[in-house]
Amino acid sequence: MKRIILDTDLAMGAPGSDIDDGFALALAHADPDIQIDLITTVNGNTDVESATILTGELARRLDLGDIPIVKGAAAAFTHPEVRRTPSDEVLALSAGARPASEGYAAVEIVRHVMANPGEITIVAIGPLTNVAAAILLEPRLAENVAEIVIMGGVFFGTMPDRKMPGEFNVWVDPEAAAAVLRSGATLRWVGLDVTLQVRLTTADAERMRAADTPFAPFAGESTLGWIEHISRFEPDGGDSCAMHDPLAVAVVTHPELVTFVDAHVSIVTGDGQARGVMITDLLRTDEAPPANCRVARSVEAAAFTEHFLTLVGGL
Ligand code: BDR
Ligand code: CA
Repeated sequence: MKRIILDTDLAMGAPGSDIDDGFALALAHADPDIQIDLITTVNGNTDVESATILTGELARRLDLGDIPIVKGAAAAFTHPEVRRTPSDEVLALSAGARPASEGYAAVEIVRHVMANPGEITIVAIGPLTNVAAAILLEPRLAENVAEIVIMGGVFFGTMPDRKMPGEFNVWVDPEAAAAVLRSGATLRWVGLDVTLQVRLTTADAERMRAADTPFAPFAGESTLGWIEHISRFEPDGGDSCAMHDPLAVAVVTHPELVTFVDAHVSIVTGDGQARGVMITDLLRTDEAPPANCRVARSVEAAAFTEHFLTLVGGL
């Protein structure tokens, strides 16, 4: 059994919002070999207030019981934008949503990892602000956490045509990502070049919508809505959407789905056009620095989709 803290910028449930954090939570909950000990929220896909309400709402829908949800960072370390406040649609959900627990994400991450040395895996599927803050509060977290699995970065191949120079979770808070890389913790990065290969199609969504489980119709409906939404911005994307964050959850219990290679990764911080860009050394020369993480290299995409559709889609 793997015990995890899921750190998320979940936006599923808000109109036109990304759904993959919500599906990552659903997959972690459905995996019999994962125990979710704690959920922490962070600014990213949406403001942290909305992420916390929407996580509480999904926790109600998934019947997550009393797993604590703790609110985290409202902005990145050095480039705090003024973030949105919850929309009326999100506020309307807060009445029925599971309320957040007292406290602050970084503090609760420290408390939980240090109370259970070597036992806890952090699965970070949003910007790394909370995780970096936890490491700043307690540097020994690095040797007490079993592993940190991160959906973030882009390591191989060229970037798809995007407005930002790197991958979203790293680009929102590169200073935090760099602090996590420096920490000495055992890190596995599941990068965008690999997660873009794991996709749900309209046909998958329609099958989920018709499946006979409490969650499947909502899963199918949400997927259809998200595919429709992104098709307006990514007309070449076809009739499918990527499952970035669920893949990071899947590798915790199914390492056979993704191959990883050792690497030394650094991140461009500060101002400038290259902010958030990652430099990946695959350690092929004698002068290479020591590895500071492992990065995803390839994925068994069909096997992942089957795993996902079985556990989350009710198929
Ligand atoms: C990452 O950014 C978000 O939009 C997704 O939830 C995922 O965590 C992909 O770049
Ligand atoms: Ca995310």
